[in-house]
Amino acid sequence: MSDAPQAQVKATSNGIPVPSFDLPLPDRPDIITANVQKLTELTPNPRHRFIFKALLKHLHQFVNETRRVYYLLNLQFSTDATTIPSLTTDEWMAAIDFLTRIGQKCTPLRQETILLSDVLGVSALVDSINNPIAGGATENSVLGPFFTEDAADVNFGESIASEGKGDYMYVEGRILTTDGQPIPNAVIETWETDADGFYDTQYADRSHPDCRGRLRSDDDGKFGYRAVVPVAYPIPGDGPVGELLLLLGRHNMRPNHLHMMVEAPGFHKLVTAFYPDGCDYLRSDCVFGVKKSLVVNLKDIVDDEEARKRGFPHGDSFKLLQYDIVLLTEDQSAAMRAGIEEERYTISDIIKSTKS
Ligand code: BEZ
Ligand code: FE
Repeated sequence: MSDAPQAQVKATSNGIPVPSFDLPLPDRPDIITANVQKLTELTPNPRHRFIFKALLKHLHQFVNETRRVYYLLNLQFSTDATTIPSLTTDEWMAAIDFLTRIGQKCTPLRQETILLSDVLGVSALVDSINNPIAGGATENSVLGPFFTEDAADVNFGESIASEGKGDYMYVEGRILTTDGQPIPNAVIETWETDADGFYDTQYADRSHPDCRGRLRSDDDGKFGYRAVVPVAYPIPGDGPVGELLLLLGRHNMRPNHLHMMVEAPGFHKLVTAFYPDGCDYLRSDCVFGVKKSLVVNLKDIVDDEEARKRGFPHGDSFKLLQYDIVLLTEDQSAAMRAGIEEERYTISDIIKSTKS
């Protein structure tokens, strides 16, 4: 490509007419906030209107609150009104530059925007609100960027990992309804790191899927497969999200875990992960994915014969992860979501938040 400036694409009117009201000219900051809210009233779709009014209210509040807090703090140290720090133009430009670089870092294989949402806890929050649990159903955990569609089919008892990828682990359990009935033929996608803390997709010379597999529960809802003990690993730190964590003084580690995604007709899709107890990062997961019910105890099976019987070529010993996975039906899940929404927001709250 030449270094000559590229021609600008000419902008055209989007055809929306001027509103039927005039906005006051903003000679004070608060008038800008009020004007933005008034213009957002024009949003045709009610759900979009609701979301954008809330977003813009909080965004403007953030700018104002940053000013106010610093103003108060500053008063303790200085009475010089000219040195009052607020959210400065430079700080806001730094935020814009950061978001620009987030976008530029994204490729079909690298999703820096999702990573940002993950480390800010927003992915976990949205997931948690949208997948409330009841009746002992298995809780969700973050999907993360390392799921792929190309996992090989794995039969009962077979391995998802090639030999030498890590310490032996056997995973077994059942897929059940909330009243304990088996769910046969559920599709289980599972993926994990190798003993070096890398997913197969992180190897430049990846020739085939490894440490991942697709299996199905049997007629009794049972599943079982060989895997390796996953290890804690850092999320990608070579982009703007990595910079952000350094700035915030936060580590970029996830505790070791095994991912599972379970689907069966008529049941709500479950995206989850299991976290072996004892990991140093369990209580400070950089993406907030760990839930108490997903922390598992790996049993130490030191029994050469049993290890060989389960198909581990070198025998000796293995870790055993046993977990029954409970799925909500689609109807149960929808009812739970509706119930949670009702509890979180009373009608008067909703009316208040759309008016202010
Ligand atoms: C993961 O568990 O694979 C993951 C989740 C969120 C961000 C990065 C990785
Ligand atoms: Fe992971």
